Amino acid sequence: MRIIKTKDYEQMSTIAADILGAQIISKPESVIGLATGSSPIGLYNNLAKRCTEGRLDFSAVCTVNLDEYVGLSPEHEQSYANFMWTNLFSKINIAPGNTHLPNGIAEDLVSECASYDELIRSLGGIDLQLLGIGHNGHIGFNEPADFFPLGTHMVKLTSSTQKANQRFFNNIADVPTHALTMGIRDIIQARRILVVVSGVDKADAVKRMLTGTVVPDMPASILQLHRDCILVADEAALSAL
Ligand code: F6R
Repeated sequence: MRIIKTKDYEQMSTIAADILGAQIISKPESVIGLATGSSPIGLYNNLAKRCTEGRLDFSAVCTVNLDEYVGLSPEHEQSYANFMWTNLFSKINIAPGNTHLPNGIAEDLVSECASYDELIRSLGGIDLQLLGIGHNGHIGFNEPADFFPLGTHMVKLTSSTQKANQRFFNNIADVPTHALTMGIRDIIQARRILVVVSGVDKADAVKRMLTGTVVPDMPASILQLHRDCILVADEAALSAL
């Protein structure tokens, strides 16, 4: 894994935007896997600015998001579909039909998961997958487990993940208990992976991801095996190394 150390969140976001932007310039019809959460917001602002200034063109790009809460409609304020629209899609020249997230209110969630994997396959796989990491080492919503899940599936969120995401909801009871997430196979088969991490609260997870054994109990550890994985992390996130 290549590690780029930045002084802070702002520099992390700029450098990550340089890398993601370079991917789109070199392959305008790239399939980009996207993440939600606090880590990529600065990166998304950077991409939006570059697009407004005519320095990046998303017209041929396709996106597939990592995950979505079960039970939240795309219009729900805290759905990941709404997050993506607010923070990125509404600000760039991407065709809305080229943006994809799992449908958390599908009647048949099992077939929704299968269709999402089929969609990724039909797009030719993911050229670049963007990731944040959870405090417990989750990627997407693949929580610590005793095996690496393969394709898109439904997960029960751990209490630590629910607590971490509570900040976006009025109270913990409103945080969904389940989510649909791409599996580890979907993620690790991406041709390139870009991980953004910021803050001292992630330092222990970063250390375990980079130096620990590759185990499903630490899902992000599998990134050690990827041939083209770039970690852009600020000094605080790298401070435990
Ligand atoms: C979000 C996702 C999660 C987050 C992770 C870090 O789509 O898949 O794995 O990347 O929980 O979240 P933040 O960036 O909010 O610390």
